[in-house]
Amino acid sequence: MIPEQYLLYPYRMRFIVTGGMGFIGSHFVELLLENEHEILLIDKMTYAANPLNLSQEVQNQANFRKIDIADAISLNECVEKFGLVDCIVNFAAESHVDRSIKNSMPFIESNIKGTMNLLELLRNGGAKSMIQISTDEVYGSLDTGSWDEQSNLDPRSPYSASKASAEMMCNAYRNTYGVKVIVTRCANNFGPRQSVEKFIPLAITSIFNGNQIPIYGDGSNRREWVHVFDHCQAIYNLAMAEKSNHYIYNIGGKEFSNLNIAEIISKTTNKEHANIEFVTDRLGHDFRYSVNDERIRSEFGWKPKYDFESAIGETIDWYRSNPEWIKISQKQVKK
Ligand SMILES: NC(=O)c1ccc[n+]([C@@H]2O[C@H](COP(=O)([O-])OP(=O)(O)OC[C@H]3O[C@@H](n4cnc5c(N)ncnc54)[C@H](O)[C@@H]3O)[C@@H](O)[C@H]2O)c1
Repeated sequence: MIPEQYLLYPYRMRFIVTGGMGFIGSHFVELLLENEHEILLIDKMTYAANPLNLSQEVQNQANFRKIDIADAISLNECVEKFGLVDCIVNFAAESHVDRSIKNSMPFIESNIKGTMNLLELLRNGGAKSMIQISTDEVYGSLDTGSWDEQSNLDPRSPYSASKASAEMMCNAYRNTYGVKVIVTRCANNFGPRQSVEKFIPLAITSIFNGNQIPIYGDGSNRREWVHVFDHCQAIYNLAMAEKSNHYIYNIGGKEFSNLNIAEIISKTTNKEHANIEFVTDRLGHDFRYSVNDERIRSEFGWKPKYDFESAIGETIDWYRSNPEWIKISQKQVKK
């Protein structure tokens, strides 16, 4: 429930959703359409965007345009045609840490330059507000306790450094030009439509194919996991708010080691034990992330509806029911 004093609804808002053909963005697009908002959906269609993520009908409803947010000319042309919007929600990003370790340049282009172009749109009056979808990874790694929104940033991979850089520009634009920007720092998401290169879909599809689940190092690295629907609801609450007391909001989840995750997924698919292959650890692999999300809970009444252990079964079922989607995703990640 969004507290009444904040609520703009039933105001029908006009949104730009970038990266809306990807994992989280596609669910957010559906949430907005369910609530009858108007959308300009922008996506570059990288390997991470599965064309089956949204039906043709939904793509039409959401005014999908294939555009790279790092290309200011095409972006501005497209947005100008659509007209003034209430809110830009920026999901568009290169999102895989391993790829950023191999080559960070696309991360600089999409995650930093792309965000800059959206901030320029905001500054020039093309939108009234913007929500920058950032990540808990900007805080770095911690052994115990949890980060709150005042904790120092210590990004340690090229991916998290690109996301932290984008945040810094958001802060600079907010401060310098007085534009309305909110930054969210969310934990790891799980749910339908996540690219098969990411840990949970990789574990699920490995089990389907009778392969071992590859796990970095000794599997003790710890992450928090939140269902993608809960993440989208948190962003929606922020988007529908006329005001907020802060401009950064953590969104947390339930903490597990990678080994725990492999065991839970295996048990849910009726395997007695996870069949694991320990592989050479990721360079500079952060040990643990954990965020304190009391701010968004108390201010916006948000709390997760989905518990990992009970919701993972439905996620597994979704992958089982969508072999065509998996085939496309597997082909795309090899590009
Ligand atoms: N998945 C998670 O667990 C998680 C957690 C916290 C934060 N985030 C953040 O949420 C956002 C969405 O993550 P996701 O998991 O859905 O990622 P994803 O990789 O599934 O989707 C990203 C989408 O952005 C598009 N894109 C990439 N570069 C673009 C560009 N230059 N112009 C236009 N579109 C572009 C891709 O085509 C893709 O559709 C990202 O910003 C990510 O940093 C993700």
